[in-house]
Amino acid sequence: MSEETFKYKNFEIPLHLLYKTGGGPEDFEKVAEWHLSQVKKYIGILEHHNILEIGCGIGKDAMTLIDIIGKKGKYLGTDVIKESIQWCQENISTNYPNFQFIHHNIHDHLHNPQGDLKAEDVTIDSHINFDLIMLHSVFTHMFPDEIVHYLKQFERVLADRGKIWLSFFIITNRLHRQIMVNSHNEWSEKKKTFTFQHEYAPRCFINDKESPRSTVAYEIDWIYDAVNEAGLRVENFLEGTWSGYWKNPRNGQDAVILSKAR
Ligand SMILES: C[S@@+](CC[C@H](N)C(=O)[O-])C[C@H]1O[C@@H](n2cnc3c(N)ncnc32)[C@H](O)[C@@H]1O
Repeated sequence: MSEETFKYKNFEIPLHLLYKTGGGPEDFEKVAEWHLSQVKKYIGILEHHNILEIGCGIGKDAMTLIDIIGKKGKYLGTDVIKESIQWCQENISTNYPNFQFIHHNIHDHLHNPQGDLKAEDVTIDSHINFDLIMLHSVFTHMFPDEIVHYLKQFERVLADRGKIWLSFFIITNRLHRQIMVNSHNEWSEKKKTFTFQHEYAPRCFINDKESPRSTVAYEIDWIYDAVNEAGLRVENFLEGTWSGYWKNPRNGQDAVILSKAR
């Protein structure tokens, strides 16, 4: 029996791989275009850019990036799902050798339960520096030591004028207090599924004790401290719609844009 696929641009993506990363075919194109339109708007993507994406999944953003960087720039995507990376190598890199994909066998109960490495064991090896590093919905599944490790790696491989796009679930102190003190407020009524009631580590909160990685949120000060400690700085903070908290949200998840501290 032939495998069910979803057609996006010229690619026939196996549905079972698409689902492994989360999301489905219904919003695949919309999400891909949204990701890149946001990065273009707030950072800019040029055709000669070198781009790193951690958590590239089945290559949703990579396939969309082809329209921008074609065969001129370079793209490196990593993920912990081996099958997805193999599919990207066989279906994207063969026609676009400037798009490379690497599997990191990091253990993650959600995406790679068989993995035998920790995120902290992985270094990003690259002979080029990156103009853009982007992570969409990836630090929303990571714990503090892992994020600190990646931020330090990013500082090392970022070009001097390069930028980093990171999406997060961010809890400001005020918002957080509001949730903890009065769990029947308007916010939690609307967003019952995302209340981040459990403190997993200092200033890091999870939603579901049974599956801690499924959604992880941080207090904003924790993010600023981790970013500064890595030798980076926050250039912009884009408020997300997810919490229902911000009056004029500019992204779905919250996002920060970073550059080198000096
Ligand atoms: C929610 S999905 C987001 C995928 C894609 N960025 C998007 O927005 O559609 C999170 C992805 O990050 C990957 N991932 C989680 N931890 C990772 C790590 N340490 N290194 C690389 N990828 C990771 C997962 O396998 C999964 O494909």
